[in-house]
Amino acid sequence: MASPIPLPFSKPLDGISGNTLAIHHDKLYAGYVAKKDEIATKLDALMRGDLSSANATYSELRGLKDSETFATNGVYLHETYFDVLGGDGVPTGQLADALATTYGSVDAFIAVMSACAMASRGWTVLAWDTHDATFRIVNGDAHNHGGVWGCLPLIVLDVYEHAYFIDHGSDRKAYVAAFWKNLDWSKVDTRYQKAVGRES
Ligand SMILES: [Fe+2]
Repeated sequence: MASPIPLPFSKPLDGISGNTLAIHHDKLYAGYVAKKDEIATKLDALMRGDLSSANATYSELRGLKDSETFATNGVYLHETYFDVLGGDGVPTGQLADALATTYGSVDAFIAVMSACAMASRGWTVLAWDTHDATFRIVNGDAHNHGGVWGCLPLIVLDVYEHAYFIDHGSDRKAYVAAFWKNLDWSKVDTRYQKAVGRES
């Protein structure tokens, strides 16, 4: 059984309350970790048994394979989201330089990704596309929707209402602004440096 990873920061965030984090991390994220395990166990048993009922309209195998990607991405996306929070929001490092080169300035990049976040129903992710060797901002309306294979997440922004409704009501714009204030640029820079050069 996998265990949820602890929140990787201890300092209070600016504009994202401890109450929101407790629900988001301890209940919602932990729930995805448990479901990921449950699905893996059921898939393992099914793979060793009778697979003759496999069917694309409905079958147990179809349901499990679809839920496998939903739960797994639910775990991975949340872990990266929590991992990049807890900073001071001051852009530094090679990633900030590369974003400024690509978008004109870091502020211009933040404006673009913030707009994408306003247009998403679930996730907005800045990723490094290892096929095109370029940045790609991906919107996903569900955990297993919208992603592009070969893209490595650098900055993961959760825009489901559970991420902000307690603190900001329906004002997603205020939450997105708070997200940038708490971004740990040293963490995302490390992610960038690991991702770049892995082009296929
Ligand atoms: Fe979430």
